[in-house]
Amino acid sequence: MSTQFLNVFLGEQYTRHLFLGTKTNMTKRKQLYEGKAKVIFEGPEAGTLVQYFKDDATAFNAQKKDVIKGKGVLNNYISEHIMTAVGDLGIPGHFIARLNDREQLIRKLEIIPIEVVVRNVAAGSICSRLGLDEGTTLNNTLVEFCLKDDSLGDPIIAPEHIFTFGWTTKDELEIIVEDTLRINDFLTGLFLGIGVRLIDFKLEFGRLYHDQDAADDNVIMLADEISPDNCRLWDAQTNEKMDKDRFRRDLGGLVEAYQEIANRLGIKIPDLDS
Ligand code: TMP
Ligand code: ASP
Repeated sequence: MSTQFLNVFLGEQYTRHLFLGTKTNMTKRKQLYEGKAKVIFEGPEAGTLVQYFKDDATAFNAQKKDVIKGKGVLNNYISEHIMTAVGDLGIPGHFIARLNDREQLIRKLEIIPIEVVVRNVAAGSICSRLGLDEGTTLNNTLVEFCLKDDSLGDPIIAPEHIFTFGWTTKDELEIIVEDTLRINDFLTGLFLGIGVRLIDFKLEFGRLYHDQDAADDNVIMLADEISPDNCRLWDAQTNEKMDKDRFRRDLGGLVEAYQEIANRLGIKIPDLDS
């Protein structure tokens, strides 16, 4: 994202403020929310937020926790790369710009409390739920929905639950599934091109309101991040895991695997020791 674009979007004064130094400037920003892997701060302009990528790693609803130095920086750069490419397809998303090694400027959305999981190959929870062998290719791409609620352990739900409880309208869910399948097709090709199999991944969406008083006047946008934290990525030659399963399953080498994904995507990552 060019400085020129940001000048148009935010005004020159804010762009200058944002780019003052490349290190994070957490104390000056009001924290709004802290999640397991990210912190959300107030943005410099109405309708914007700042998303900060932590080094914290959690799994199994945060029962397993660690801090993995460099993970946040890697996810910030990898997600910037993928969100930008998905945006270029014409799928609207919250990402505006990477501000520094750990922060992104994003649009403020009303987050839809649903996790959309896409599976091409059986791995993770579907294997234990349905008794499948890991690595079984699915006959077709499977889209699953989970309620985003840590206190309930993000339970799997059907579209009927989504409509019954009003989490989305039917039209909204249709857009979400259509965007999700396009993203899956695109990312499957993108990763295959760098010798990586896209096994599964998780997306989140939100609503951007043009007018707060007109509830129908909104656009569905891709939110959150797309990184090896929320995708399963296997090396195409060896099936070696190159994603957060390295942490979930105590395999070690998480930073090296994320760094390898970044290298293959042609993303230059700063020195993680500095
Ligand atoms: P699962 O096999 O554990 O259901 O995960 C499916 C995909 O969703 C996998 O790529 C990891 C991702 N995921 C998240 O990003 N956040 C989560 O909280 C969970 C449970 C999975
Ligand atoms: N991020 C989730 C957690 O900490 C689960 C996962 O990614 O496996 O609980």
